[in-house]
Amino acid sequence: MLKVKGLNVAYGGVQALWDVSIEAGEGEIVALLGANGAGKTTLLNAITGVIPALSGEAEFEGRRIDGMKSAELTEWGIAYLPEGGRLFPDMTIRENLEMGAFPRRMWRERAKRLRDVYAMFPKLREREKQLARTMSGGEQQMLAMGRGMMSNPRLCLFDELSYGLAPIMVDEVFGIVRSLRERGITVLMVEQNAYQTLELADRAYVLENGRVTLGGTSAELLGDDYVRKSYLGL
Ligand SMILES: Nc1ncnc2c1ncn2[C@@H]1O[C@H](COP(=O)(O)OP(=O)(O)OP(=O)(O)O)[C@@H](O)[C@H]1O
Ligand SMILES: [Mg+2]
Repeated sequence: MLKVKGLNVAYGGVQALWDVSIEAGEGEIVALLGANGAGKTTLLNAITGVIPALSGEAEFEGRRIDGMKSAELTEWGIAYLPEGGRLFPDMTIRENLEMGAFPRRMWRERAKRLRDVYAMFPKLREREKQLARTMSGGEQQMLAMGRGMMSNPRLCLFDELSYGLAPIMVDEVFGIVRSLRERGITVLMVEQNAYQTLELADRAYVLENGRVTLGGTSAELLGDDYVRKSYLGL
């Protein structure tokens, strides 16, 4: 399970996160909702040690992860997909996927992992020789998810998977997130699209100006007057 306790983060002198504590249980989909600039990306970056925290900590399965390097995170079973995916544009689909199994312990298993990922994303197999930069935005998002799955993670952190995707692709991507839960993988996902996200997630937190202001089951948040007015436009 993922436990984040009392994270404080500042950029220069400006504090961006205030005492943020959240949790995600094994096989749970937990969503982070919040307006632009609320601190969602900052929180994922602090959890994964991309940016240092002033204080607080994040642990997964009993080990501190906030200070880990990205290869260590991968080896510890964590896949972080930052906003926009960050593929290797001039590599093929297959080469991009293989890069997802780069840490030494996984490299030996890459053929097996590739079969598993192609079973999850059959379209990637059909086009394995295509260059990443020639894929559509939706296909690139699928490839980024597939690359994350190459390391056989137990925790996935997703920043705005649905950003810029047409509704039918959002359904497809969210369907894949649902299938991760069925495999017992824990998911922490940042999303703008509050309604669809609450339909998918088990629980959610609302971040406002760097603070967690609300948290609960998706059903509770879907029924909350403030959430309905401020985030669901109802
Ligand atoms: N590298 C940085 N340097 C200075 N300030 C930053 C930096 N990154 C983020 N911030 C500030 O921290 C705050 C939180 O930003 P963050 O990117 O975490 O928000 P977000 O919730 O992910 O927003 P969005 O929905 O637009 O992606 C914002 O006020 C932002 O301007
Ligand atoms: Mg963001």
